[in-house]
Amino acid sequence: MRFAGKLPDVGTTIFTVMSRRALDEGALNIGQGFPDYPIDQRLSALLIETVAAGHNQYAPMEGVMALREQIAHKLHLTYGLNVDPISEITVTCGATEALFDAIQAVIGAGDEAIIFDPAYDSYEPAIRLAGGICRRIGLAPPTFKFDWDVVRSNLNDRTRLIIINSPQNPSCSIMDAVDLDSLAAMVRDRPITILSDEVYEHVVYDGKRHASVLAHAELRDRSFAVFSFGKTLHATGWRIGYCVAPPLLTTELRKIHQFNSFSIANPLQTAIAAYLKNYPDAWAGLADYFQQKRDLMTGLLRGSGFESIRAAGTYFQLIDYGALSRAGDLDFSDVLLRKAKIATIPLSPFYQRPPAMTLLRLCIAKRDETLRAAAERLQAFARSA
Ligand SMILES: Cc1ncc(COP(=O)(O)O)c(C=O)c1O
Repeated sequence: MRFAGKLPDVGTTIFTVMSRRALDEGALNIGQGFPDYPIDQRLSALLIETVAAGHNQYAPMEGVMALREQIAHKLHLTYGLNVDPISEITVTCGATEALFDAIQAVIGAGDEAIIFDPAYDSYEPAIRLAGGICRRIGLAPPTFKFDWDVVRSNLNDRTRLIIINSPQNPSCSIMDAVDLDSLAAMVRDRPITILSDEVYEHVVYDGKRHASVLAHAELRDRSFAVFSFGKTLHATGWRIGYCVAPPLLTTELRKIHQFNSFSIANPLQTAIAAYLKNYPDAWAGLADYFQQKRDLMTGLLRGSGFESIRAAGTYFQLIDYGALSRAGDLDFSDVLLRKAKIATIPLSPFYQRPPAMTLLRLCIAKRDETLRAAAERLQAFARSA
């Protein structure tokens, strides 16, 4: 049988490819974004308790109420917001499902969505599966700044969605309040919804604060904001995310969610609810925690030939190998994997039209020993290059 599929050009993600190859090569994996240290033992203990207490059947489709209440409380503590847990918060299978649901809720056949390269890889396939057309606007390294005139020139009558991501993976850059004002002014009087991927909301460095669309009076009314406990609680494998949106948008999102994942693991939600209740500021030290790791890694690499582009947020760090080689990033990451036994993530797969660049992404959500071992391998490779 001949079968083309709906996404014939889409292969396995670069994260999975590099992680598999890291295993095959026996390489240290500082590519894919997951911590290599344990989660808070108090959270593990709560999960055991919730299973034993019998929270093992379907959770409510919208999410366990106790968790939605804790999320509302957290939003109040973080941004001073009053969010209704009944009509504005939906618990999803990681941020990935929330992103997918929001895109399906907004995009129909022939509608256009704008995303910014280097873009997280789940956005475009979800837009295309909805029958939409994805317009990708490239942001240039090393600053990855927005040119709002260029964005405006890409709008047309079919534009329905703009996806933003701050702090941004993989560029490690952040949007500020001025960017959000420019975005708000641009979409004013247009039927455009905003999907804001804020999974790294708590990982903003150097004393800066995250600018959430939820805290922007004008944008909040037309935005889905997406978050992930995978990132906030160092538990990417739990697959618990959530979407915050006004009631009208939430109603539409839930129509997709109920026929997608339907409802999310009950004991995991219940354990997180209890954890947030018992330790309401458990996430408060995240920025300092990762900033220390960023500074450790960039300090270790200083003078090595790998130049760090200081991350403004996320738990990643970009390094520029341009002083060591002019090879393309796919080839260079392959050489590093085989010769230095280090798995990294090249940046070009996140672009439709990659600019000339020599950048790799490292994940710093690793034990300090892992970062030290990775830096040693990179330094040794640079010395021999
Ligand atoms: C920018 C961004 N959005 C979404 C996700 C997906 O989050 P989750 O693991 O909660 O599905 C990730 C994960 O790496 C990410 O980096």
